[in-house]
Amino acid sequence: MMQIIHYSVMKDEVLTHLVPFQENGAVVDCTLGEGGHAEAFLETYPELTVVGVDRDEELLKRAGERLEHYGSRFLGVHAWFDDFLSSYPGDFPRPQGILMDLGISMYHYEASNRGFSFLAEEALDMRLDVSQRLSARDVVNTYDERRLADIIYQYGEERYSRRIASAISRARHIRQITQAKELRDIVYFAVPAGYRRGRIHPATKTFQALRIAVNSELSRLSRGIDAAVSLLSEHGRIAVISFHSLEDRIVKHTFRRYAGKAPGDDPLLQQYSERPMLRLVTKKPLIPESEEVTQNPASRSAKLRVAQKLQEPQEGRYETD
Ligand SMILES: C[S@@+](CC[C@H](N)C(=O)[O-])C[C@H]1O[C@@H](n2cnc3c(N)ncnc32)[C@H](O)[C@@H]1O
Repeated sequence: MMQIIHYSVMKDEVLTHLVPFQENGAVVDCTLGEGGHAEAFLETYPELTVVGVDRDEELLKRAGERLEHYGSRFLGVHAWFDDFLSSYPGDFPRPQGILMDLGISMYHYEASNRGFSFLAEEALDMRLDVSQRLSARDVVNTYDERRLADIIYQYGEERYSRRIASAISRARHIRQITQAKELRDIVYFAVPAGYRRGRIHPATKTFQALRIAVNSELSRLSRGIDAAVSLLSEHGRIAVISFHSLEDRIVKHTFRRYAGKAPGDDPLLQQYSERPMLRLVTKKPLIPESEEVTQNPASRSAKLRVAQKLQEPQEGRYETD
């Protein structure tokens, strides 16, 4: 029996808000991971089909093993979720629910051996899809200093991004940076001493930024939500769990735009305010109960937003590609 490493976040809240309205309907779990949320759906609704998507083949395999006994009620797909939702196969059931539980799983930190954690003695890699060319090692050793600083600033919201990029640039002149631990130490010594004593390790944000850049996480998220809104059945729901402010901002703004409540400079605002495509189910994001945070501290930054599809896109106006 496979050992499950990941603890699924806000499972009860997801089940409460993402209720398929037909007993034999379908839900797409865009971020299958080890299949915890998928299993909860399959257990709760005995006639439901779950389409589970993950770009990490190792995770897809692990979830496939866990969910094997559900037979054809579980369909595993190896894909980036934005690509998959944008060209959803015609012979797959149209979903009444779409779930995104963003980021990476505990498996990635603890067992993938791909340098996601700055605590591990592992090669600097951070690819979800190991067949992809670009890895964290390439970004760190080949991007020019300014681009590196921008990535660390934009995707890590790291205020010492310039100092860190400059230290990386100096270190790689001497020799290539190949290990997660080497990068951690470079960041540690690049930042002011006071910052080293902060609540989080000084390399946390730099590691987050590199992971986002390597896997194009934020552009995939926007594109994925657009495609999900098009694909959902009328009255279907989309639920997104985010783990940091960059993700949550995209979810919040995209949902609000489709609900006709977006900021004024959005050219589609008028269109959606006259004919909204989504209704916001959660006006404010839901957060985990304190017991969940105690049991699983990694859930402490989770935010769940849910919206419901109101109507089909008008012909040719809401296509994502
Ligand atoms: C937080 S984990 C999901 C955990 C899962 N809900 C569970 O209960 O076990 C996120 C998963 O989504 C995958 N992932 C992240 N972004 C993706 C994307 N754009 N397309 C496909 N898979 C993605 C990661 O490989 C990871 O396995």
